[in-house]
Amino acid sequence: MSKYKIGLFGFGCVGKGLYETLTTNNDLDAEIVKICVKNRDKDRSPISKDKFIYDPEEILNDENINIVVELIDDAKAAFDIVKKSLEKGKAVVSANKKMVAENLPELIELQQKYNTPLLYEGAVCGSIPVIRNLNDYYASEQITEVKGIFNGSSNYILTKLFQEGQSYAEALKEAQDNGFAETDPTLDVGGFDPKFKLSIVIQHAFGIAVHPENIFNWGIQNISDQDIEFAKERDLKIKLVAKASTIDDQISLLVAPHYIDSDNPLYHVENEFNCVLINGKYASEQTLIGKGAGSLPTGLAVLADVASLTKDYSYNYNESRPLTITEGASEVYLRFDDVNDIDLSLFESISEKFIGQKHGYLIGKIELSDLKNILKEADHKVNVVFTSGKDAEIEVSKLTYSYA
Ligand SMILES: NC(=O)c1ccc[n+]([C@@H]2O[C@H](COP(=O)([O-])OP(=O)(O)OC[C@H]3O[C@@H](n4cnc5c(N)ncnc54)[C@H](OP(=O)(O)O)[C@@H]3O)[C@@H](O)[C@H]2O)c1
Repeated sequence: MSKYKIGLFGFGCVGKGLYETLTTNNDLDAEIVKICVKNRDKDRSPISKDKFIYDPEEILNDENINIVVELIDDAKAAFDIVKKSLEKGKAVVSANKKMVAENLPELIELQQKYNTPLLYEGAVCGSIPVIRNLNDYYASEQITEVKGIFNGSSNYILTKLFQEGQSYAEALKEAQDNGFAETDPTLDVGGFDPKFKLSIVIQHAFGIAVHPENIFNWGIQNISDQDIEFAKERDLKIKLVAKASTIDDQISLLVAPHYIDSDNPLYHVENEFNCVLINGKYASEQTLIGKGAGSLPTGLAVLADVASLTKDYSYNYNESRPLTITEGASEVYLRFDDVNDIDLSLFESISEKFIGQKHGYLIGKIELSDLKNILKEADHKVNVVFTSGKDAEIEVSKLTYSYA
């Protein structure tokens, strides 16, 4: 009989990954005793049907279960499960970034009130131990910036667009078939999933709670052949970057496609891999790369959390840094169908402008709040790609380009 009895919610991509990693690991004194799922008709072979239940209370009220692992794809129901588990003194592991990001202050309070831990490594960048490192190793560092590729499926799609010239729809389908994309792909390709992760990362890197609604996100759905051509002509790639950067007592936050040059570690991160770049006062930049999605990589992150719970591990939630959120100016490439859709007066400066027969673009500096207005007004008829590089902005505007 194992000391740690797990009640598992969800037996999809990640649930199965946890099951496989746990059942092939002999070092852990833990076993899954009940699995709560939704659909009674699904085939669960080769696992015995007796293990599956459909009423969450059967886990929540089972006094033998001391660890609840929540791996469902419904953030509302997940929050209910996690809240009730903590109230009952059951330690919890979750991989649900939307649920964690949207409820983090309350989840911290619940952990403190019931003196019961919640761990969520699998929620941020799959198999990369981001939260654990921020919580432990980087607790002594003064972090100035955390940025990176936080979404495996959009990176997979971008890789296919750039390397294989696949269409966006083909690449998305492939990402879904491989289990990288969320059930609702808008979460991935719209940049929502990486901003949930960024919100969690900000709490652990800077000690501040920022609700995901307060983080700007622009996804990859509007990337066109012209935007890709623009990158290829200049030996750049487009990557969907999540970024939290501080300057003095200000912090800027965003998720958006960026043109990246080959000096930047993000340039070389392909397919479902994620990359996290952590910059700090003492160690300067450090890079973590690994599989950001998928059954076994995420299953491993969840398993590592279960293992930590057996060693009484919990997060610290360091004191907050006195940072205010800024929406300062950035250099962007803005591509449009019709220049009349764009209020050019909102740009602080424009260094390059091209107006062709079917599309045009400009490169200029603009405050985030003004950019948001342009994007809202013009919606799908524009795309924006930020131009920031490794240390400074790539001066895309200084590179020559001919329109033969
Ligand atoms: N896929 C990844 O690579 C990945 C990576 C990191 C984090 N995550 C996160 O991990 C979580 C699970 O993702 P997934 O990809 O494994 O999802 P999935 O393959 O769609 O599986 C979802 C599972 O949840 C069950 N479920 C849904 N609502 C339920 C409810 N109310 N009560 C009980 N069970 C319920 C489903 O039951 P049925 O089997 O009966 O349909 C299914 O087994 C999500 O929060 C996701 O964001 C996923």
